Amino acid sequence: MDNCTMHLKRKVLVLVIVLLVVFLMYFWKTVPYTTMDLQSQPNSAVKNLLEERMRLLQERYSDIPFRIKESKAVDLPFSDMLFPRISAKALHTAFKASELEDVKHHRAQEYQSFQKRSQSAADFIIVAEANSPLQYPTQGVKVQPRKTILIPGLGLKEQLKKLHSVNLTAVLGTFDVAAEVQAVMVEGVGEKHMTLSSSSLSHLNRQLQFVTYTNIHFHPNTADTVEFVTEGYKAAFTIKIRHGIIPKLYNPGSGGEYNISNLVTIATKTFLRYDKLQGLIDSIRKFYPTVTIVVADDSKHPKPVTGPYIEHYIMPFGKGWFAGRNLAVSQVTTKYVLWVDDDFIFTSNTKIEKLVDVLERTTLDLVGGAVREFTGYTATFRHTISLEPGDEDGDCLHIRRGFYHGIQGFPNCVVADAVINFFLARTEKIQQVGFDPQLARVAHLEFFIDGLGNLHIGSCDDVIVSHTSKIKLPWGESETDKNYSEFRQSSASSLVTQTRLLYFKNRLQCLTRG
Ligand SMILES: *[C@@H]1O[C@H](CO)[C@@H](O)[C@H](O)[C@H]1NC(C)=O
Ligand SMILES: *[C@@H]1O[C@H](CO)[C@@H](O)[C@H](O)[C@H]1NC(C)=O
Ligand SMILES: *[C@@H]1O[C@H](CO)[C@@H](O)[C@H](O)[C@H]1NC(C)=O
Repeated sequence: MDNCTMHLKRKVLVLVIVLLVVFLMYFWKTVPYTTMDLQSQPNSAVKNLLEERMRLLQERYSDIPFRIKESKAVDLPFSDMLFPRISAKALHTAFKASELEDVKHHRAQEYQSFQKRSQSAADFIIVAEANSPLQYPTQGVKVQPRKTILIPGLGLKEQLKKLHSVNLTAVLGTFDVAAEVQAVMVEGVGEKHMTLSSSSLSHLNRQLQFVTYTNIHFHPNTADTVEFVTEGYKAAFTIKIRHGIIPKLYNPGSGGEYNISNLVTIATKTFLRYDKLQGLIDSIRKFYPTVTIVVADDSKHPKPVTGPYIEHYIMPFGKGWFAGRNLAVSQVTTKYVLWVDDDFIFTSNTKIEKLVDVLERTTLDLVGGAVREFTGYTATFRHTISLEPGDEDGDCLHIRRGFYHGIQGFPNCVVADAVINFFLARTEKIQQVGFDPQLARVAHLEFFIDGLGNLHIGSCDDVIVSHTSKIKLPWGESETDKNYSEFRQSSASSLVTQTRLLYFKNRLQCLTRG
């Protein structure tokens, strides 16, 4: 082969490759896929429309005078702070003046994107106006992403006339009919806007029973707003778009009423106090010889904690209180987890079965017990928590001692928002809320603040665990005790961390306690 033909062959090869690449690139580009803007709020046009209608509705009768009632129900903002027995805390003081502006700016940004993620069309207020001839479902319609449903309950009730007609308009999906009815004209099949009309009202109504909605934009956990219109009247309703809900079930196992070993894992966190931990384990074993105990340990020089049904997880030194709780709870495979502190002691009053019974027979997610101090005093630490919407500086959180109501069938139990750190919880729910590992030292209520609205909480005072003496005179302290309290107290900054988290993470500007 001479040099010239080789050159030619090479050129042809290069040309073929170039053509192939161009061809492939072309195809790559035209592969059909749709993109969706996940940044902007969905249905902002619909939102504006609904808000405009709401405004018009509220403007009616504006000429009629009124008088604002002085009532307990409509508290003026932060008026609770005026009560002397309640302590109030302004949270922004945890930041230096020089850093506060920056913190505020970032918090506002993060809050905005949080709101975008957490709101959907189903949150808008929709008012059904008086005497509308339109009949439609007001709630409960849902569709899985990219799937089709029959829209239930559509109808038109009006006086007979020459032509009856309705329009349907959606944002995230299209309409069709599952069956066709004679003498009804259907326009816009497969589109986001469909018109149905007929000279026969009953035929039109029959056709409306077969209208289907197909979600086309994949955007789960949102909602589509459907506008339903006839001459002179407008209505709107929402269709929720969500995947099917996959349950997470735990096998309760066989044997007995409640087999605690199968149903419950005991979780604790230890730091230095091995003598206390051993006392706890020994006391548990007297009553529950085969229940699994998970220990998270962030001591500097960890000592072995061994025995049957014990899992000892060693963490980096000083990772802290909530990090340890998080680790321990993450390893639980039973339906329930019982949280205990490492200086608790089980007695014959520590009947876990009673707490299991409460969670088995109610819809509660978490139920606290009582802790008996060495003085004989028994604490349940019941609190209610409420969030008061504030302004751009943040909201206000009110924490009060007390509870909401009793629980039928459980005379020793009540419902509250926060309880003591001796509680039984549904493992899945507690894992969802989690313990913020940034809270290293003294923290407790923070978990319940994070869980507010997610956890339904009870408290029973007839399941009692004992607390080994906490208040010790300095000369009675063991060396471990001294090291332990030194470590806890050395973290004066922990209060600042706590306050900063409330300010930034929970977007609070103040906290009142009483
Ligand atoms: C219904 O939709 C059709 C076609 O888009 C439009 O011409 C008509 O005005 C609409 N009717 C009402 C009552 O809005
Ligand atoms: C409870 O479950 C454990 C572990 O599966 C089992 O060993 C024990 O026999 C069960 N207890 C009863 C009373 O059946
Ligand atoms: C307590 O801390 C001191 C100093 O760090 C150390 O030498 C000692 O071993 C610790 N004692 C215990 C029981 O951990």
